Amino acid sequence: MEEFRGFRVRRGDVNDLDFIEEIERLSFGDESYPRNLLRYLLEWERTLILECSDGVIGYLSYVYLGSIAHIVSIAIHPDYRGIGLGEVLLREAIEDMKKLGVHRVLLEVKVDNVAAIKLYSKVGFEIDSILRGYYSGDDGYLMSMDIGE
Ligand SMILES: CC(C)(COP(=O)(O)OP(=O)(O)OC[C@H]1O[C@@H](n2cnc3c(N)ncnc32)[C@H](O)[C@@H]1OP(=O)(O)O)[C@@H](O)C(=O)NCCC(=O)NCCS
Repeated sequence: MEEFRGFRVRRGDVNDLDFIEEIERLSFGDESYPRNLLRYLLEWERTLILECSDGVIGYLSYVYLGSIAHIVSIAIHPDYRGIGLGEVLLREAIEDMKKLGVHRVLLEVKVDNVAAIKLYSKVGFEIDSILRGYYSGDDGYLMSMDIGE
């Protein structure tokens, strides 16, 4: 996959689990996905890894069925945010999905997660609906984007 200013995006495998779990914990704290789910996403679904010479600094996991994909999680290590890497990883994931025949991408995001909503909007996602109480009582947005033909 693409090389970007010394950063590389590649398919993940189970050897990445500890690094992903750490980034997940730094990003979501008590609301992190459990290790078992992260392992499942690595082994049975698709997880893309962003890495540099320091090691793994971000990941994006998605599931897909036919022409529809669902982004389950994206996170960049806090030390590497705000320099365009989340956007690189998301755009790479969309290219990966296109190769698999995906035509529509869905995701959920907390309504107060401004950074993520702006990232998704910049790449082309639109808000479809509000998901009342989706996050343990907090509201979320369902966002989607058409890709490919
Ligand atoms: C959301 C996240 C992945 C963005 O990654 P990032 O590498 O910092 O984002 P980028 O530097 O690629 O920024 C791309 C765009 O996102 C938006 N953005 C990123 N950080 C932002 C911030 N702090 N405030 C507002 N907009 C922001 C901007 O539109 C930016 O484009 P611009 O620089 O041209 O304005 C990162 O903040 C993160 O890991 N957050 C914690 C995990 C999380 O919330 N994941 C999403 C769950 S739904």
